[in-house]
This record gives sequence, C-alpha cells and structure tokens, in this order.
Amino acid sequence: MKVLVVGSGGREHALCWKIRSSPLVQEVLCAPGNAGTAEVARNVPIKATDVAGLLELAAREKIDLVVIGPEEPLCLGLGDKLRAAGVLVFGPDASAARLEGSKAFAKEFLVRHHIPTAQFRRFDRSGLAKTYLESCTQWPQVIKASGLAGGKGVSIVRDAREGCVLIDALMEQRSLGEAGNEVVIEEFLEGEEVSVLAITDGEALLILDPVMDHKQVGDGDVGPNTGGMGVCSPVSLLSRRVMRQIEQHVLVATLHGMRRDELSFRGVLFVGLMLTESGPRVLEYNCRFGDPEAQALMRRMKSDLVPFLVATAQGKLADMPEGPEWDPRVCIGVVGAAEGYPGKVRKGDGILGLEEAGKVPEVVVFHGGTRFAPTLKKEVVTDGGRVVCVTALGKDVEEARRSAYAGFDKLTWDGRFCRRDIGHRHLTRKPAGAPEPQRRPPSR
Ligand code: AMP
Ligand code: GLY
Repeated sequence: MKVLVVGSGGREHALCWKIRSSPLVQEVLCAPGNAGTAEVARNVPIKATDVAGLLELAAREKIDLVVIGPEEPLCLGLGDKLRAAGVLVFGPDASAARLEGSKAFAKEFLVRHHIPTAQFRRFDRSGLAKTYLESCTQWPQVIKASGLAGGKGVSIVRDAREGCVLIDALMEQRSLGEAGNEVVIEEFLEGEEVSVLAITDGEALLILDPVMDHKQVGDGDVGPNTGGMGVCSPVSLLSRRVMRQIEQHVLVATLHGMRRDELSFRGVLFVGLMLTESGPRVLEYNCRFGDPEAQALMRRMKSDLVPFLVATAQGKLADMPEGPEWDPRVCIGVVGAAEGYPGKVRKGDGILGLEEAGKVPEVVVFHGGTRFAPTLKKEVVTDGGRVVCVTALGKDVEEARRSAYAGFDKLTWDGRFCRRDIGHRHLTRKPAGAPEPQRRPPSR
C-alpha cells in the first residue's frame, strides 16, 4: 500500500513512523511534513490546507489510503472530496468535523443528544455577551471562541470586567480572526481532565488507551493554554466504573447522535472530559488524533495500526475481531517549545543533539515545528512553537520521566524550554482503581 499522511506536526511524524513499520505498507508520503517525517516518509511540499493540491497528489501517486492529521483540512472538506474521488480516507467529512470546527455546533449537539457537558450560552453579538456576563452570579466563567483557534481560543475569566475585555478582544478587535465571530460562554467545571480517543467508522467504535495531556504552558499547570506541552499514557486516574460511564454516556451516545443527525464520521473521535464530582462531562470534541496524544499512543500501540485505519476508512471496523494491543509500559512525552510559545515565536534556530537524544534507551524524538535549513541540507532548524516531542517508555511513570528528560536534555536550540513536571499528576494522585481490560472487540 501507498499511504499519504497530511500534516506537519509531531502527531504526523508519529503516524508516519508507526505506519512505516507496517508490513502492509510499501511507501509513506507526508504533505508537507517536517525534518523528522523526512526520515520515515517522502515529504511532498503541499500544504495541509491545499485541498486541490492534495487531491491532485493522491491521484498522481495512486495513493491507497489518506490519513488526515490536523483539523483544518477536515473542516475544509478534504475528506469528502477525496472520498468522492474514490480514495480511502481516515478522517471525517466536513459536516462531522464541525463537532470540532464550531464549539457552538458541538454544544447544541451535546444538548440535543443528552450528553453531559457544562451549561452554556452562545452569542454572535458582543453587546449581548457582555450583558450576559454582567448578569452572571457564578464565577469564574469560561469564554470560548467558537471557531478553530489552534488551542488558544479558551479563557477562564474571574469577573465580568475581565470577561468584557476578552469579549471586546475576540468579537470587536478580532484577536483570533473569524474564530471569534461567535462565542460560547459556559459554566466552569472542576475536576481532573482526561482525553479519551476512539476510532470509529460511525457504526462501531474502538476505545484507545487513555492519555493525559498537559495543556498549560508552565509547571504546576499555570499560564496560558497551549496545544499541549506533554503527555502521559496510560492514565491511572481512570477507574473501570468511570471508563464505563464515559463509554456509555459519552462515546456511544455521540455515535448514536451522529447517526441520528446523519453525520458521517470515519476517523478518530477525541473527547476532552472533566471528571467532575457529578460524573464525567464533555469539554470539547476533536475530530482527529491529538498532538501530543498521538505520539504516546503510537509508542504504546503494539499492533499494526494500518488494518485499523483501513477498516475504519472502509466502514468495516466491526469486522476487526479485537482492539489494538498496548505495551503495558508507561509513555511520557515532553514537548520542547520555542521561546515565546504559545505567543509569537522565533523560527530558524539551529537544533543540536537530535542524534544523541535518539540514542537514549527507550527514547524516540518526534519532530513538530522543524525543517531543514535552506542552505545546509543536514542542519535542522526550528520552524514552529512546539519543536519536538521527546517520548520515552518506562516500567513506571518515574522511569519513563527520567528517560524522556534525559533525551530532552541532549537537545539544544536558542530559547528552548519545556515543562519539567510532565506526569506529575500520576505521581501525586492515587489510582482510582484497576484500568479497563485493554483488548476488546469494537462496541456499537
Ligand atoms: P477546550 O478547547 O474546550 O477543551 O478548552 C481548553 C481547555 O480549557 C480545557 O482543556 C480545559 O482545561 C479548559 N476548559 C474548557 N472548558 C472548561 C470548563 N467548562 N470548565 C473548566 N475548564 C474548562
Ligand atoms: N493536545 C490537544 C489537542 O490535540 O487538541
């Protein structure tokens, strides 16, 4: 098979790396890719949002399967168009990708299908949003730009004054462009946050092992939200009972809701959840693998990923006799970021130590924002906010952390930084119970 992976981040490097190891695959192409994907795939310089260019590439290269990494091309309808051209695609149609592309749409969907989530209101006029904030008695409140904002569209505000400043920035000064045309204001939920990802073809679903992201930029969960600064999998905080609740009340309910609303979903349904005292509640849907969640999942998945991707793309996931087999070891992924992230970052700084980092036992470095320097082909330079994700497997969190940071410390570039506490929640909290058995047939 010839597989095309669309995207250029750490998630896409991890997907290319895993897909490349399949005996079913002759060649992997990545569009546009980064300096890391170039080691395991053939990079093609076509942007992930260039729908026409990617359609032409898939036809020209006779691609058997396209795996769409990021949300933007999914929301632009890349999946629909490739499918219409007869190509197998892992990734939902644009109509279903709205679950991620519009938070207002997602909230209406959640309410319509009685799936537990925070109470909310949606506004497309700043005046009404501000009047509502001034009437609130419960604080904090959460303000979300409805459109795609690369993980930067959510703010927690402590009072009406702070909220109104933010509404003006989003809706009047358009700090996030069109993403802020509409906003959702919702109840603040307290609890532990987890991500649960499931592969689904719209009929059956296979829950992947739980993963925990670290969204805030600073140690101890302080500072602004990012796309994700580090990852730990599996998640010992999730008890069997809670996993069952998530499966029934969230995942299966979402699947039924999508069927009722005639949304065609063949890909990864990624649900961000808050484990509140009154049970798990949905914070957000994503319509793709997470970044850096995918890096940890690809490291821990022992089975070949490709048969799952193909069965999903064909709508035959129920035919898979069982789910993927997981490495029981812990994976920790530490994101190395460029100075300024998640704000404006400098690009083009030379990265040293990649080879040495990769030699640390059990370490694999996935590239995110990297590229080759235009003059010296062998030199790798920074090209984005999240530069690398250093992953390591270990028998427990402590061992995986040690290896991941040992790998990270071999790397240098100007302005580099990381969080030093990835996995800390797993060390400080007691596990809530035995995890769910991990290898099961798809549920419906
Ligand atoms: P989202 O993109 O909707 O997942 O929001 C980004 C982050 O904001 C989440 O990962 C949470 O940490 C936080 N967040 C979102 N919604 C809420 C909420 N209703 N209550 C508390 N925190 C939230
Ligand atoms: N790590 C969160 C995301 O991919 O949305």
